[in-house]
Amino acid sequence: MASSSTSKLLFCILASLFLVSTAQNCSNYTFTANRSFSSCKELPYLEANLHWNYNSSSTKVSLAYRAKQDSKGWVAWAVNPTGRGMVGSQALVAFHNSNGSMIAYTTQLTSYNPSMLKANLTFQVSYVSAEYSNNEMTIFATIGPLGNRTTVNHVWQTGSSVSSNIPEMHPLSSPHLRSFGEIDFQTV
Ligand SMILES: *[C@@H]1O[C@H](CO)[C@@H](O)[C@H](O)[C@H]1NC(C)=O
Ligand SMILES: *[C@@H]1O[C@H](CO)[C@@H](O)[C@H](O)[C@H]1NC(C)=O
Ligand SMILES: *[C@@H]1O[C@H](CO)[C@@H](O)[C@H](O)[C@H]1NC(C)=O
Ligand SMILES: *[C@@H]1O[C@H](CO)[C@@H](O)[C@H](O)[C@H]1NC(C)=O
Ligand SMILES: *[C@@H]1O[C@H](CO)[C@@H](O)[C@H](O)[C@H]1NC(C)=O
Ligand SMILES: *[C@@H]1O[C@H](CO)[C@@H](O)[C@H](O)[C@H]1NC(C)=O
Ligand SMILES: *[C@@H]1O[C@H](CO)[C@@H](O)[C@H](O)[C@H]1NC(C)=O
Repeated sequence: MASSSTSKLLFCILASLFLVSTAQNCSNYTFTANRSFSSCKELPYLEANLHWNYNSSSTKVSLAYRAKQDSKGWVAWAVNPTGRGMVGSQALVAFHNSNGSMIAYTTQLTSYNPSMLKANLTFQVSYVSAEYSNNEMTIFATIGPLGNRTTVNHVWQTGSSVSSNIPEMHPLSSPHLRSFGEIDFQTV
């Protein structure tokens, strides 16, 4: 008993040291236009980070999803309210529109071959916008109210091409198939 709780404690200390060292890199990122986010998580695949502020009174989350991408590609971040992984997820997507400006909008991923056309989500989303700088695409949005459910299944993705303003299929290599998980907006 005693030794098991000691090793659990040691594990927690090591885990928190690891979290602190990665969180530093994530949280010292400086956004333009006076935006700032108090929480941040470096996501384990696709060189992506999620930054957010959770408002416990409105239960809304204002967030920035920031990921490595070149100018011809697209990025997406989604919440899946009904399961894990891609199908059923409620997504924010961003890429360079054919006129050269970044666009961002919401879409529902109803199958493994989704239309990627604009659609309203099953929860409220506001202030959707996107930026491109330093080979990174960032999607900004406010989601919620989330009510008392602050832990969600999320999915993130990147693809290398866009055709006629429609993001094309993402690669099927391992990182692109493993880029989903759970996130608790109330932590940190
Ligand atoms: C910080 O994060 C960037 C992008 O996520 C990564 O390329 C870099 O290696 C990280 N640096 C450290 C010191 O962890
Ligand atoms: C953030 O911190 C990491 C490591 O702690 C450092 O390598 C990086 O240069 C810092 N970035 C900024 C923008 O301050
Ligand atoms: C950022 O905040 C400062 C001080 O509040 C203000 O003077 C400045 O105009 C703001 N910049 C932008 C881009 O909103
Ligand atoms: C949080 O939400 C409440 C209720 O909508 C609002 O009055 C308050 O200004 C928000 N706080 C921040 C920091 O945005
Ligand atoms: C580019 O197209 C988008 C979407 O149609 C539009 O919102 C934006 O204003 C356009 N930008 C320019 C610079 O024309
Ligand atoms: C989304 O909902 C708004 C009003 O709630 C409506 O005006 C708009 O047409 C809807 N958009 C789509 C793509 O269904
Ligand atoms: C969350 O909200 C639901 C419905 O409003 C309620 O039934 C439930 O007890 C709440 N759970 C907690 C942990 O507050």
